[in-house]
Amino acid sequence: MNKKILILPGDYIGTEIMAEAVKVLELLKAEGEKIEWSFGHLGGAAYDAEGHPYPPSTQKAACEADAILMGAVGGPKYDSLPRAVRPEQGILGIRKDLGLFANLRPALAYEELAAASSFKPEVIAGLDILILRELTGDIYFGQPRGRRSNAEGAEEGYDTMHYSRPEVERIAHVAFQAAQKRNKRLCSVDKENVLETSRLWREVVIEVGKQYPDVALSHMYVDNAAMQLVKNPKQFDVIVTGNIFGDILSDEASMLAGSIGMLPSASLDVNNKGLYEPIHGSAPDIAGQGKANPLATILSVGMMFRYTFNRADLADRIDAAVKQVLRQGKRTGDIAQPGERIIGTKEMGDAVVAALKK
Ligand code: IPM
Ligand code: MG
Repeated sequence: MNKKILILPGDYIGTEIMAEAVKVLELLKAEGEKIEWSFGHLGGAAYDAEGHPYPPSTQKAACEADAILMGAVGGPKYDSLPRAVRPEQGILGIRKDLGLFANLRPALAYEELAAASSFKPEVIAGLDILILRELTGDIYFGQPRGRRSNAEGAEEGYDTMHYSRPEVERIAHVAFQAAQKRNKRLCSVDKENVLETSRLWREVVIEVGKQYPDVALSHMYVDNAAMQLVKNPKQFDVIVTGNIFGDILSDEASMLAGSIGMLPSASLDVNNKGLYEPIHGSAPDIAGQGKANPLATILSVGMMFRYTFNRADLADRIDAAVKQVLRQGKRTGDIAQPGERIIGTKEMGDAVVAALKK
């Protein structure tokens, strides 16, 4: 039976970068891989077409799919909509609905792009870290939340941060197992000196760690982690953290890789069904101009083969093809140095497909 992939291009550059990822799928299908795909709406595109950022048609298709590829959602066109129908609710909705609690965000410094990073080459050379972000809990989804008037009668907004023991346990297991497959070092990031949520988080991570004696576990406060990531990022192997801290730290870590346009991500459920997306946004400023870097989306296809379809061979091939086009000097604007020839989205996609061909 064919593996079913649901493609949700999303908004602005989402459609442009996804077209290049589809070229990769087409090549693999032509080689005989048993895959098929269909398209759906998410985010602003879904609001335009069906009046909701995560409409029932997408929900149904997402449940039926084996894996989901997403572009990017959001943008100025939708900024003035009420919160409940803003594009962000599309991505938050699908994560929660499908139970995609484990968000893998690798940050890899490509040798070829060292000059595109704002860091000194020696700080990032050879950098390879994995940020594991819990994705369906924390202050993102905590209740109660809303507006009220406080004791002094002033209007206030409030949110609730919480994690339950089972929620921390399951992300901790994923983290330890990921560390076992890498350099066996895990750093858990929290704010245990201030937050009750973090105190429980740390206790549970330590407990789960007893089952993984081969992994060296350390702990770091999130403010220090933000500092250490730019001071000496190579001290990290796997970082595990909650939803909001992971949101912030993963954007920070993306700069180590030279460009946010290079980083893929995977969001997995308990059975490794996953949603795969570049970690960058919909880049309204360059949309429709054929300038966007499709590599993070193409690398997301690689992660899909690695984690959901258990095809490390194909994932390795896609990763190698991306490295090869970088070695060939192919550069979209975001990763080009002054004086380098800049190519467009399509040309970059075609270069990867050419490098992929056996
Ligand atoms: C991300 C994004 C989302 C998040 C937004 C679009 C809701 O920043 O995937 O990191 O905050 O999780
Ligand atoms: Mg983010």
